[in-house]
This record gives sequence, C-alpha cells and structure tokens, in this order.
Amino acid sequence: MKGNNDIIGIGLESSCDETAVGIVHNGTDVLANCIFSQVDLHSEYFGVVPEIASRSHLEVINALIRKALQGAGISFKDLHYVAATNRPGLVGSLLIALQSAKAISYTGNIPFIAVNHLEAHLYAPFLEGNALSYPFIGLLVSGGNTAVYRVEGAGRMELIGKTVDDAAGEAFDKIAKFANLGYPGGPRIEKMAETAREKRKLFPKILSDSPDDTRFSYSGLKTAVINFMKENPGTPLEEIVYSFQERALELLVRRVFTAARKQSVATIVVAGGVAANGRLRQLLEEERRPGETVLIPSPILCTDNAAMVAGIGYRYFLQGSFSTLTEDVFARSQ
Ligand code: KG4
Repeated sequence: MKGNNDIIGIGLESSCDETAVGIVHNGTDVLANCIFSQVDLHSEYFGVVPEIASRSHLEVINALIRKALQGAGISFKDLHYVAATNRPGLVGSLLIALQSAKAISYTGNIPFIAVNHLEAHLYAPFLEGNALSYPFIGLLVSGGNTAVYRVEGAGRMELIGKTVDDAAGEAFDKIAKFANLGYPGGPRIEKMAETAREKRKLFPKILSDSPDDTRFSYSGLKTAVINFMKENPGTPLEEIVYSFQERALELLVRRVFTAARKQSVATIVVAGGVAANGRLRQLLEEERRPGETVLIPSPILCTDNAAMVAGIGYRYFLQGSFSTLTEDVFARSQ
C-alpha cells in the first residue's frame, strides 16, 4: 500500500534504436522497465537507419506504455509526472517519446519533464540500491558518446572531456562490421577477445598520459586496427580484437580516474552501452583505490532504457523543474 509521500513517475525513451517505457517509485524503485530493441531492423545495415527507427518507435510506443502500466500494476491516474528524453539523439526518433509524454501530461494534468539522455544514463546506478550523493564523476560511454562529467545535481553537469572524433562504442561497431562479426559489435568483440591465446600489444597507446589531457579519441585506433587486419590476414582475429579492446578500455579507465582524483571526488559512475563490458568492469576494479567507489549499472540499465529517464525525472520533480508543452527535441545535448 502506498502512502501520500509516494511519487510514481513514468519515463519514455526513443532517442535512438530502443523504444522504452519505465515506471519508477520515489526515484529509486523500478516498477516497470519495458524495452523494445530495434536491433534486428538495423542489423543488416550495420548501423541505425533514422527513418526506420522513428517509424518503429511510433508503431510500438502505445503498446509499450500499456505493458509498463500493467506490469507495474497501476493506471494513468496513479502517475505524478511524466518524463521523456528530448536530447541528444535522432530528432525524428526523439519526437515519438516527447509527443507521447506531452499527451500523457496534458490528458492526465501532471507535470511534464524533458530529460537529457546523457544525464539519465548517469542516474542508472541509483535505481539499484546505491544511495545518491553528489558530486560524482560520470563516464558516459556508448555508441554515440564518450565523455566525462562532474555531476553536482539534477541539471548540473559540467563537461570535463569528450571524444574529439568517434565514440568508443562506434569503434567497437565499425571494427566488428569490418571483421564481419555483426551488429552491435561491442558484445561480439568482448566475447571473441576472451578467447585470445596470445595477449600481445598490437596497437599504440591512445593520446597522452598527461593529467591535463582530458580528451578521448577512437578514430585513429579504429583505422589502425582495420589496416592491421588488411595487412596481416594471418593474425588470429581474436588476438586483434583483444588488443583493440585493451587499448580502447584503458583510455576510459585512465581518464575517469584522473578526473576523479584531480577533483578529489571519490564516487565514479560509469554508464552507457559500453559499460556493459565485463573487461571494463574488471579494469576499473583493478585501478580503484581504497575509499573510491565505482558504480556501474547492471547491463540491462547500461544500455538505453526509460527507467533511468523516470529516475532522473524524479529529481526534477522534487525541484519543481518542469518543462512546458512547447518543449522541442535537439540532436545535441546543448
Ligand atoms: O547506450 P547504448 O545502448 O546506445 C547508444 O549509444 O545508442 O550503447 C550501444 C553501444 C554500441 O556501440 C555497442 O556496441 C556498445 O554500446 N556495447 C558494448 C558492449 N555492449 C554494448 N561495447 C563493448 N562491450 C560490450 N559488452
């Protein structure tokens, strides 16, 4: 039985190739986390086709909303707010969740909250029993983003450093595509790398070790790996992808710990699709010093979902930071 202080919010997400609806109680307990992945629709193109993505979002979102409400055992009238991702992402796709959320807000007369997808990702570990405490250093690493932030509170995120070219997940996907491993590349490369017999260093370190260098870069490594494959057809693929993965992950670990230690922040959050990588988790744990905490969501909350949207939406709800029904979508996070 829920009391007067119980706040239930619904989150909608359609920024890329997952349609998702999540329902969260008091910003911490996930009551429903429904995800429809379009991966099968895009796999033959080895990447997301925007037009196919937005059409598919439109086709499934109403059914997914119904499924989430049913799963949570509630109805529209039990909702206190509705949150939706409005940036960054594919604009045609973003519109589907945004407009659906506005309709729920208008008809139910509940606040509407437009959410930054990147901020939502960094909220994910706080849906799994970890107490929320600011500030923390957030590493967001996915197919579209690779960046480190200092997070001070809801809506208060300062960018420390980001990729100057490709995102880390994009490098996994493009290398997997070249090697005919399929899409998405990350999980397939991770699995294959585990079988490498010889663990050689085939590729140079990315960028400098300097604590002042906060950049990420994956385009040079990606090209080096692809060229190496072309020039060395005799080298076992698992050794090549192992060596690629080590270099790709090492930079993430180096940058996030440098940022945290420079800023004397003891809590690190790592989120986004690439955070599902088991080797990354292992490397972060190896680098962690006593007193430092590394929070990584479970794989289902690492990749795109809407429980995280409803979760961060709750923090905005508490602050009374609501959006208007004229709110638009944006390709970039601004
Ligand atoms: O956050 P996410 O679901 O969405 C977008 O960025 O759109 O991340 C997807 C990305 C893809 O590039 C995928 O290859 C990568 O995350 N990924 C992984 C793993 N699982 C997913 N990368 C490395 N290792 C994994 N286990």
